[in-house]
Amino acid sequence: MTTTLVQTAGTLVDHSAEPPTEPPAHSSAVSSPATSSRVLGLICRSCRLEQPLGLRYVCPHCFGPLQVRYDLKLIAGLVDRSVIESRPPGIWRYLELLPVERVPRRSLAVGSTPLIAAERLGASLGIDRLWLKDDTRNPSLSFKDRAVAIAAALAMDWELPALACASTGNLAAATAAAAAAVGLPAYVFIPADLERAKIEHALAYGATVVPLDGTYDDVNRVCIELADETGWGFVNINLRPLYTEGSRTVAFEIAEGLGWRSPDVVVVPIGSGALLGKLVQGFDELATVGLIARRPIRFVGAQAAGCAPVADAWSTGAAEMVPVRRPNTIVRSLAIGSPADGSHVLRLVRECGGSVEAIADANTAAAIRDVAALEGIYPETAGGVTLAAARAARERGIIRDGDEVVALLTGNGLKTPDARHVGLRAGPGEPGEGGLAPVLPATFDAVESWLEGRS
Ligand SMILES: Cc1ncc(COP(=O)(O)O)c(C=O)c1O
Ligand SMILES: [Zn+2]
Repeated sequence: MTTTLVQTAGTLVDHSAEPPTEPPAHSSAVSSPATSSRVLGLICRSCRLEQPLGLRYVCPHCFGPLQVRYDLKLIAGLVDRSVIESRPPGIWRYLELLPVERVPRRSLAVGSTPLIAAERLGASLGIDRLWLKDDTRNPSLSFKDRAVAIAAALAMDWELPALACASTGNLAAATAAAAAAVGLPAYVFIPADLERAKIEHALAYGATVVPLDGTYDDVNRVCIELADETGWGFVNINLRPLYTEGSRTVAFEIAEGLGWRSPDVVVVPIGSGALLGKLVQGFDELATVGLIARRPIRFVGAQAAGCAPVADAWSTGAAEMVPVRRPNTIVRSLAIGSPADGSHVLRLVRECGGSVEAIADANTAAAIRDVAALEGIYPETAGGVTLAAARAARERGIIRDGDEVVALLTGNGLKTPDARHVGLRAGPGEPGEGGLAPVLPATFDAVESWLEGRS
């Protein structure tokens, strides 16, 4: 059976049907050599011990984190700009660079999100060339769909009984949606005080949502034990080394979107640190396989001041971060006090001459309002932190005159509807809030006289 990929924004893509005799104009066959030849296995980031692919995430020798090992020489001979460009939109157009054997039979339509020239916002931040990578538009409204798509594909290949995760919010919906798409049960573990919209979102896809009375780090600790006991595919625990590979597609899309080159600066939110680390890796691999020229990129990390273990270590010059026990911020999606990849990204940011900025909640809320009003894009709190970090990095001189900057908007504002009000006097729907009129009589005259009264 030929594998076909038909992409429709936000809908389930079913690759199982027999292909029509005439393939749709925008579909094309994507096949690849066996994963085993491209993907050599897992390797410990600390001691370099090699392991086969599987449900594992920690080195049995030194407890270091594992990552995927590719045969980049082989991949360099397989990938080609024009072949990638001829494929349908979505993350599977970079198949050879992903740890899956073939385009999965069923998956959501993830990736190929817009890269938007943000001239008005750029001018307000003093940034000459600003691009926004709009990942608010993925199927479950965050970039997490990219990583979960890899985990879901492997869960099907390995016939795992369920998908599960420990979530700060966005991963909950991403895991629930992907599990629904492939027909697996989903178990989502969250801190009990998470934003209601994020809980509703995961429930809507039919997931079992388990709120735990603790921080994200407490939830994660419980899930590590559950992963061993249940054999479920915990996307960000026992599937973590493979799952995080999906985030590299953000780098691939940015490079392709800029005409196969890298920008000067990338501004990235940091929760666990996986996204930033995978962006660094993704751009590096593109250069290694010959898809872009190798140029230095400065990475700016963004954290909320109320949970900023990486930013604090960066600003004090400390060698290691100190975990934050009780995160206190509206930016719940990044509220990880003990980030798994924190020390790793601290090193990466120092090496590339970037920075990690700690942003007060009021500045995050102001940045959400700014990007919505100036560019028509409504991000959740992680996007607000990221844009405020771009402003801070510009003021610090990390972003310089003429730099081309890409800022990532990784989640949608509908998930954190209260956040934009922080620092404003009037609450949501209260009289005096920005553009909201009082309830008027339903007559032309009433509306006309109210409009006249405003001008
Ligand atoms: C919207 C959003 N952006 C960014 C991040 C941070 O990603 P990472 O944990 O890979 O650093 C998260 C994490 O949950 C998130 O939900
Ligand atoms: Zn090791």
